[in-house]
Amino acid sequence: MTNRRAFLSFMATSPLFTSGAALAQALAETAGSTIKDASEALNVFEMEAAARAIVPPAHFGYLASGVDNNATLQANHTAYERYQIRPRRLVDVSDFDMSTEVLGLRSANPFFLCPIGSCGAFHFTGEVGVANAAREKDTAMILSTQASQSVEAVIDARNGPIWFQLYSTNRWSVTQQLVRRAERAGCTAIALTVDLPAGRNTETAALMARQDTRNCDACHSPSRVKPSFEGIDMNGVGLVDAALTWNVVERLKNETSLPIVIKGIETREDAALAVEAGADGVVVSNHGGRATPTGRGTIEALPEVVEAINGRIPVVVDGGIRRGSDIFKAIALGATAVGIGRPYAWGLGAFGQAGVERVIDILRREFAITMRGSGARTLAEIGLNHIIDTEKR
Ligand SMILES: Cc1cc2nc3c(=O)[nH]c(=O)nc-3n(C[C@H](O)[C@H](O)[C@H](O)COP(=O)(O)O)c2cc1C
Repeated sequence: MTNRRAFLSFMATSPLFTSGAALAQALAETAGSTIKDASEALNVFEMEAAARAIVPPAHFGYLASGVDNNATLQANHTAYERYQIRPRRLVDVSDFDMSTEVLGLRSANPFFLCPIGSCGAFHFTGEVGVANAAREKDTAMILSTQASQSVEAVIDARNGPIWFQLYSTNRWSVTQQLVRRAERAGCTAIALTVDLPAGRNTETAALMARQDTRNCDACHSPSRVKPSFEGIDMNGVGLVDAALTWNVVERLKNETSLPIVIKGIETREDAALAVEAGADGVVVSNHGGRATPTGRGTIEALPEVVEAINGRIPVVVDGGIRRGSDIFKAIALGATAVGIGRPYAWGLGAFGQAGVERVIDILRREFAITMRGSGARTLAEIGLNHIIDTEKR
């Protein structure tokens, strides 16, 4: 105990922890392994530590990895420190509402659960566990093409609509089947991911896989296909199409009446092109620092995208959101809602459905404190007046 206290006070003063976020994370890593129940997690970093202690190294590496040296992954989170909040006082915030609706999909919280492939690698309940939590917490969810469970099973567990994240594949007939099945199952939008045309270099995943001594052949045999592709001839089919261009929006619109959301936009040029191409929404995203090694946090890309879109379609942002105050900053900078990725997967890995629910509760509570503490009663009341960009001051 004395040693632990000494270690913690050393860390609190150490120059190693130049940012509050890094210190909170380091403190959580020492505490996380002691969490025995989801309800004990004080913040999402404690959930991360609890997941790290239980999820096999190769699977945790898959979850944790960014690309190259993880600079973009880290930038996603630390870039939030560039922005500060301007709170307003003596506003009656006894009544408040943090619910949001994006293209008809309602969420009691201003955040969505992002598509994460292979959730079965973190907990045996996989995406159904996530959907159960989303149902209990009335939270919007986007299901990955690469999910461990079928879209039908997940919608059934969610007991309500979700969006389907689409990898376009390099054979249109396969893409058509994915879209039709999602629509038939009850998905209410297609989120087309466009940030991975050329593979990626997930070095942390590779390094952590080396530490895993288990025999993985049974699960990773080449003959196993993801449930999204069951019954489809996948011979020679790749997940993404390097030749994809903006006309994909029109092609998809010819296949389905569902709204098409483009996930992976980071520039004003592409935001304008998305609107021109007929997209119904965009997600500002760099795939959680797992695609192009740009070195730029998505929150720093958000303002130019918001400016170019100019209110014509909704803008969701994801990447590095770990606190309710991060959500507040994103909404102040013009996001309609935000996406949460790894934090809910940490909850799932550590405690299954209960862990996901706890992560939702933590972020919801932190957001409510920030929102009300800033004098805002609705998301619409949160605006640029609430934020300072310290690099422009
Ligand atoms: C393990 C993992 C798997 C992911 N799988 C997908 C996927 O299948 N499709 C997709 O569009 N995005 C995928 N993403 C990206 C997320 O949807 C989201 O953009 C990102 O996780 C947000 O950043 P955050 O994890 O820092 O919150 C994945 C992310 C992680 C961490």
